[in-house]
Amino acid sequence: MKKFSGKKISTAVFISGRGSNLKNLINFSYKKKSPIVIDFVFTNNIKAYGLKYAYEKKINVYCFKNKKFSVSETKILKILKKKKIMLICLAGFMKILSSNFIKKFNGKIINIHPSLLPQYKGLKTHQRVLKNKENYTGCTVHFVNSKLDSGKIILQKKIKIYNNDKEKNLERRVLREEHKLYPKAIIKIFS
Ligand code: GRF
Repeated sequence: MKKFSGKKISTAVFISGRGSNLKNLINFSYKKKSPIVIDFVFTNNIKAYGLKYAYEKKINVYCFKNKKFSVSETKILKILKKKKIMLICLAGFMKILSSNFIKKFNGKIINIHPSLLPQYKGLKTHQRVLKNKENYTGCTVHFVNSKLDSGKIILQKKIKIYNNDKEKNLERRVLREEHKLYPKAIIKIFS
């Protein structure tokens, strides 16, 4: 990626639900050190709780609900091009982007995942980590490629698991670290 020169990079965030990472990225984007400005939020879920953070800050929202996701992807690509969006941050986005879409936006899509990738790709990470009695978990920001949770890792944070950890509080602890990691990873890719 090009170095951050002071002119903020137009960014879209894709969400499907709670949107705590979206909220965090919006707050980060207002800081001087942030290389990004969030111009668009895309969602497949009109009821996503996180949309409220976009509405509050008057950020454009586009909700797609075509039965065929490929039709939605074509529309999204058009908007991204028209609005000159240069970076996509996935944040709890529950759809899998097609390899065609990823190719068209190559190297400019990043994601946050609540595990120490390449371990625990996919869903229900905390549940699986606890079941396997792991000593550590974590979170990872990575580039998106056509394989699930498999692109090049940008940054990772390791988190200790304690004996009394349950899924809920582990999720909370990991999420707190996610909120620190995502902005750091964005700064990293533009420096
Ligand atoms: C986060 O744990 C993120 O790592 C994962 O989905 C969750 C989204 O949370 N991809 P939120 O919607 O940002 O609160």
